[in-house]
Amino acid sequence: MVSLIAKVGALSFDKPGMVASGIMDETGQSMVRMLGCGAGAVVSKSVGMKPNEGHANPCFTETEGGMVNAMGLPNPGIELFEEEMKVAVPHGKIIGSIYGSGPEEFGALAGKMEDYGACAVELNLSCPHAKGYGMEVGTDPRMVRDIVSAVKSAVDIPVWAKLTPNSHILADIGMAVQEAGGDAVVAVNTLKAMVISPEFARPVLSNRFGGLSGKVLKPVGVRAVYDLRTVLDIPIVGVGGISTWRDAAEYIMAGASAFQVGSAVLTEGPCVFECINEGLEAFMHDYGYGSVSAMEGAAHERGGRSNRECDRGVLRHQDVRVRME
Ligand code: SIN
Repeated sequence: MVSLIAKVGALSFDKPGMVASGIMDETGQSMVRMLGCGAGAVVSKSVGMKPNEGHANPCFTETEGGMVNAMGLPNPGIELFEEEMKVAVPHGKIIGSIYGSGPEEFGALAGKMEDYGACAVELNLSCPHAKGYGMEVGTDPRMVRDIVSAVKSAVDIPVWAKLTPNSHILADIGMAVQEAGGDAVVAVNTLKAMVISPEFARPVLSNRFGGLSGKVLKPVGVRAVYDLRTVLDIPIVGVGGISTWRDAAEYIMAGASAFQVGSAVLTEGPCVFECINEGLEAFMHDYGYGSVSAMEGAAHERGGRSNRECDRGVLRHQDVRVRME
């Protein structure tokens, strides 16, 4: 018997995949729709103190293996977002994503999300292209510690911190979250990127820079989760380029307790969660993993299986691929 229940600290999710912040989560109705598609939870679009229009078009472009966006954190502001939460919260677990310029704003926003019924808050410490927000505050471990401490003092719900891959001190940032009492880290947000139009001889996006997401990001995210797992004791939620059960299994084996799906909701459609759940369940059944937690960190020597078991796994793996295709 295989269970897809995923535990992230004190929180338990019926399914291990969540909708990542920024896709199909701007309105209450879109969050409700995604909850009905096999996602264990939905992370809201990042919400700030004031309404924000975001960047002018073009703010999105496709690229090989992924996409680059600079939406500019568009949102109605925390006061109006209450209406969306009222619609979504009765239907399932909603994690409230918030962005702020420092500890005070983050604390105030988190308090509101808790009042609105969010089961956890996710601190956006990682948007790669927002002036004064996101990774501009999330790459300084001291600032990260102050923000997480302030939020922990402001709310009783779990506090997750979404980290950037645009840093060579990711482990230090993760440690700052843990030392400040953070309940989990979410790794990773997008990679800072640019696409240039040769014909127009200028960057495609109005903001020039954006964040790279999609399949191309997966090995970066898997590596980040693997590294974080070696230093952190708090749970990790993996995100970045997941569109199949194999991608999800990689993240879990790197050390994630659960995972999020973003770009693939766009490329594969909302049914992507059902496909991942089915594939993961079949894989776990075939390879003798009774639960997501039994698979967690399996690629690490300390948490991994013996070589003999791995060898057996490689052989059987081919059978599974044949069967799945
Ligand atoms: C955006 O709204 O521009 C993206 C948000 C993010 O990368 O965190």
